[in-house]
Amino acid sequence: MRVLGIESSCDETAASVVDVSDDLSRATVLSDVIATQIAVHAPYGGVVPELASRAHLRAISPVIKQAVDEAGGWSAVDALAVTQGPGLAGALLVGVQCAKAIALARSLPMVGVNHLQGHLLAAFLDREMVVGDKPAFPFVALVASGGHTALYRVDSPSAIRELGATRDDAAGEAFDKVAKLCGLGYPGGPVIDRLAQKGDPTKIPMPRPMRAKRSLEFSFSGLKTAVAQWVEVHGVPAEGAGLEDLAASVQAAIVDTLVRKLVAACEREGVLRAVLSGGVAANKTLREQTKRTCEKHGITAHVPPAKSCTDNAAMIAFAGATKLIAGERADLTMEVRTTWSPGEVPR
Ligand code: KG4
Ligand code: ZN
Repeated sequence: MRVLGIESSCDETAASVVDVSDDLSRATVLSDVIATQIAVHAPYGGVVPELASRAHLRAISPVIKQAVDEAGGWSAVDALAVTQGPGLAGALLVGVQCAKAIALARSLPMVGVNHLQGHLLAAFLDREMVVGDKPAFPFVALVASGGHTALYRVDSPSAIRELGATRDDAAGEAFDKVAKLCGLGYPGGPVIDRLAQKGDPTKIPMPRPMRAKRSLEFSFSGLKTAVAQWVEVHGVPAEGAGLEDLAASVQAAIVDTLVRKLVAACEREGVLRAVLSGGVAANKTLREQTKRTCEKHGITAHVPPAKSCTDNAAMIAFAGATKLIAGERADLTMEVRTTWSPGEVPR
């Protein structure tokens, strides 16, 4: 089944056609088009919802057209999958309304997809994995992005249970807020990742909240406060060793926490397969540390390439295919869901 996936939940307008076999063992990405809004939001240091909606409106038709053309035209599309939530209402509406119009005009079956389910299943796309192979069920997954940070146990494409989530900021949000404080631009993750490679992560002590607790919850808001207080005393370091040490110290606090909890979740569940996803999973140190620490604990790590981890429509097409193959269908009454309890089986 060839599924056209449409994604517009946050600041990327994306469309992709994925050819998925009925037994889900094959998921060939035929096209994968993304129009990023980074330049639109960069001056504000974060996503501005109203600007996001307008940018989606401008981009959605050309992005879908390119994805369909590259896959061989409309005759190559059997069904539609669109991100129904969670995300920004105005942004989601653009994708969902567009999908409804296409479904109606072309008489194509359609399903709404939970964006987080897309992230959780992204490792099943036929792309070269960075660490390990495609996972088998069950596995434990960490989704760490700009809007979400949570651990899940995934027993099948539709049997997903949340094990713990952040109480406040998401990991990507922490990277972005610290970068904004230091005048490093938006998004913060990639620039801190780059600076941190040369820095000393032990130079500036940073808090690692919820560390001692056995709980699988996270809290990252204190990190931003700690950096703000440090900057008030020391000022923002100039480019060079000082800034690199600050970046490395902040990154280490986030990465240590994520990896520690991922391993704890695997051990608690007795599931020795760990999957990374979400934009923060593009982080070089997070990938390396996950691989090393998992190896030490007898856990197999599965890390997809960055383009599967950051927001994309191929993951939505694949997650949609699992629902379509199971016989699910949405109709034109489908509504967007700005919050959609992660772990609640998407329907
Ligand atoms: O999954 P994603 O593309 O969009 C959301 O659903 O939020 O994630 C974007 C987030 C941003 O906060 C960005 O700073 C972070 O992922 N990010 C990174 C890296 N690349 C992107 N964080 C750390 N290191 C990176 N290399
Ligand atoms: Zn995402």
